[in-house]
Amino acid sequence: MALWGGRFSSGPNDAVFNLSRSVHFDWRLAPYDLRSSLAHLSVLKDNSIISNEVAEQLEKAIKELQIEVSEGKFVPIESDEDVHSALERGLKEKLGEIGGSIRAGRSRNDQVATDFKLYLIDHMIEIVQQLLVLEKEITQLAEGYVESVAPGFTHLQHAQPVSFGHEIAKHAHAFSRDVSRIHDWLDRTNFSPLGSGALSGSSLPLNPSETAKYLGFKGVVPNSIDAVSDRDFAAEALFIIALIGVHLSKIGEEWTLLGSSEFGWAQLDDAYATGSSIMPQKKNPDVAELARGKAGRFIGNLTGLLTVLKGLPFAYNRDLQEDKESVFDSVENILLLIPPVAGMIRTTKFDVEKMKKAAPEGFSLATEIADFLVLQGVPFSQAHDAAGNCVKLCEQKNLQLHELSDADLQQVHPKLTGEVRKALNADGAIAARTSENGTSPASVRSQIASLHSQMNLDSKWISHERERFSGMMSQ
Ligand code: ARG
Repeated sequence: MALWGGRFSSGPNDAVFNLSRSVHFDWRLAPYDLRSSLAHLSVLKDNSIISNEVAEQLEKAIKELQIEVSEGKFVPIESDEDVHSALERGLKEKLGEIGGSIRAGRSRNDQVATDFKLYLIDHMIEIVQQLLVLEKEITQLAEGYVESVAPGFTHLQHAQPVSFGHEIAKHAHAFSRDVSRIHDWLDRTNFSPLGSGALSGSSLPLNPSETAKYLGFKGVVPNSIDAVSDRDFAAEALFIIALIGVHLSKIGEEWTLLGSSEFGWAQLDDAYATGSSIMPQKKNPDVAELARGKAGRFIGNLTGLLTVLKGLPFAYNRDLQEDKESVFDSVENILLLIPPVAGMIRTTKFDVEKMKKAAPEGFSLATEIADFLVLQGVPFSQAHDAAGNCVKLCEQKNLQLHELSDADLQQVHPKLTGEVRKALNADGAIAARTSENGTSPASVRSQIASLHSQMNLDSKWISHERERFSGMMSQ
């Protein structure tokens, strides 16, 4: 059913209808469209734009449709153009022409902007809830390995030993930033476009602040022309999801690498691994690989939407119908991805002995020699050279740093005594790094404690928002 046609002598050509039809994807907006219809209805009624009697019939029919849509009993048909026309058909099937009264003072332009915002807010809230579960799994895993020693890497080469708990917990900090990004995003997005009409507002006595409040929004988008064309909230959401995807892809890469037989540090649980159709011995890290791979589509979706928006004139242009599929795809895929990654993290076991053994390899304690000399008053540039010479000597003599004799050490630098050997063990090197963001077990414990306090704040905030947008506080 079309929502227009009075000035046309024929309906659209079939090919045109097929091109412009969006109901097969925008049906996801149906619950939000019905909710915003209830909000709109309340101002139509309060301002006597429609009679109480019509308002009551409409309210009853919209509420019935809410149930029928959620139970899959009311669905789009071939002739429906988009979610808005399908739902108006639903109202008309129940009420006859009265069903069309809801459209007074409203255009699909402010309607679709409102529905899309509500959809995204709802789903970004869900993404935060999943991220908090993921953060919890990461911090729990990290807590179990705070005292475990492992090589830390730069350039994927042994750099300095670290607490393996520190290594794991770093991922939670990235997701904590993602949650805070969604918090900022919601602060900016929290304004309702409803009441903007096609582009210029309405001459009917609508009350946009009332509908905004009804829906859970903090206020109204101040400019109606901007309100119907602004898709910043969608582009920003796609960026945030892309960045979460990038963070997940790093976990994917790390787990794949650490689980390889060359590393042999990570042992995946059978429930989070897959087999090969030809090689019976295989246990593949597919969850990790999909976490790495899906980042590609998230980045592609962001690029796609920005390209649609670039240079687009203000107010509504049909190009804007191309804003939705990339958002649905990113939202659905990120929600599909986070839970198995969280499960993989929860169930992975690490070989602490193997990591401990590897920690001092690759002369990863050479910095300790330089720091020892600095404490003896040697300028760092000289100390760095001396430590480098120790490494060279070890390579020539096929020794580890702590195996250099007193004479070897003296030969490298007069201030380099056998005392340095005390610093040449990975546990000591780690314990010495007591700066607040450093790798000493005490520092890592307090870093994890602040992650927990932030997670508590975030989870209180998100349940408050969840309540607000499910209408519990506004109705
Ligand atoms: N299906 C359309 C979309 O997704 C709804 C808005 C149509 N507005 C219009 N003026 N044709 O953008």
